[in-house]
Amino acid sequence: MRDPGAKRLCRIPPYLFAELDALKAATKGDIIDFGVGDPDRPTPKPIIQAMNRALGNRAHHRYPTYPGMLAARAAAAEWYDRRFGVKLDPEHEVCMLLGSKEGIGHLIWGCIGPGDRVAVPDPSYMIYRHQTLLAGGRPVMMPLREKNGFLVDFNEIRNEAGLKLMVLNYPSNPTAGVASRKFFEEAVALAHKHDFFLVNDNVYSELYFEHKPISLLQVPGSLDRCVEFHSLSKTYNMTGWRIGFVVGNRDLIKAMLAIKQNTDSGPFQAIQEAAIFALRHGERFAAANREVYHERRDELLQGLNSLGWPVRKPEATFYVWARLPKRTDSFQFTRQLLTKHQILVTPGIGLGRHGEGYVRFALTVPRARIREAIRRMARG
Ligand SMILES: Cc1ncc(COP(=O)(O)O)c(C=O)c1O
Repeated sequence: MRDPGAKRLCRIPPYLFAELDALKAATKGDIIDFGVGDPDRPTPKPIIQAMNRALGNRAHHRYPTYPGMLAARAAAAEWYDRRFGVKLDPEHEVCMLLGSKEGIGHLIWGCIGPGDRVAVPDPSYMIYRHQTLLAGGRPVMMPLREKNGFLVDFNEIRNEAGLKLMVLNYPSNPTAGVASRKFFEEAVALAHKHDFFLVNDNVYSELYFEHKPISLLQVPGSLDRCVEFHSLSKTYNMTGWRIGFVVGNRDLIKAMLAIKQNTDSGPFQAIQEAAIFALRHGERFAAANREVYHERRDELLQGLNSLGWPVRKPEATFYVWARLPKRTDSFQFTRQLLTKHQILVTPGIGLGRHGEGYVRFALTVPRARIREAIRRMARG
């Protein structure tokens, strides 16, 4: 029989987390899972109640509008103004999404055709590279190096004049690097100079420790050619709800919507009502999450340190990007950690060639379990 898969599927490797799931399923015992970045804590009750109140509204039982409810877009715009001092037109410069992953994928499909070049951080969330490849584009990998605080060194990009799009992700998954204003200014200036478009995936902006991360859109002139992705997933423990939004340049949003209109019909409006509530009243929940991740970060860092494995302290996100304590490849290290100690981490190589030599711990594990993981590793 013919292979039903399109030829383009050969351009991408198997999805990393599906592979890790298989590895996990094949492992017996009590696994401590630092793998996927999926909050273990529940969605705050008042957000659930906001959705429950909205469920009975018959208007919400019909198809949503493609860019999302104007009230939800207005709540996102107000939040951006409060948080970053960025003013947005809710009608044209905000679009609700079924999670930022969906929007990132569709934006790439809306902007990128065969041969178009897309600059992508390495290591990074693999969707940027994979969607570029699926759309027929050519990813140009931008190494993230520890010596630069995991900020892209723009001098390392060859032929930036040929780029159509550059994707940034600060605060960064997996490196936990945080962009400075100067860095974003440099990126926007480069985009203007070489006429490419710029994306910042800012889904971790609310999970910070010492300093508040900034927005790319705070740079003057950025609205001419930039968008930023946001999500309620991590900030309010809502990964299962599938709700996020994109803000910024209206033409980029229009290109993304052209694909979305032919693919999905927007998020369920009752979920958008919950998002409105979270954006307006959710700061205390975000603050509570920060406190929890802060404690977990310190617990893990202290524990690893006590094992003679010092790692860089993350300033934001809920990831610890740990350089391997010995010379081994990250997949091998991950497999050993799982079989020997039933501890699951993400191998750096799965997130890009420059991720080799590192593993990622997601702080989505309670402190007691972090201590247990350290005890297991201490046994050798
Ligand atoms: C950098 C980054 N962007 C986007 C996403 C997707 O988030 P969601 O689709 O839940 O909004 C993730 C999820 O892990 C991520 O790490």
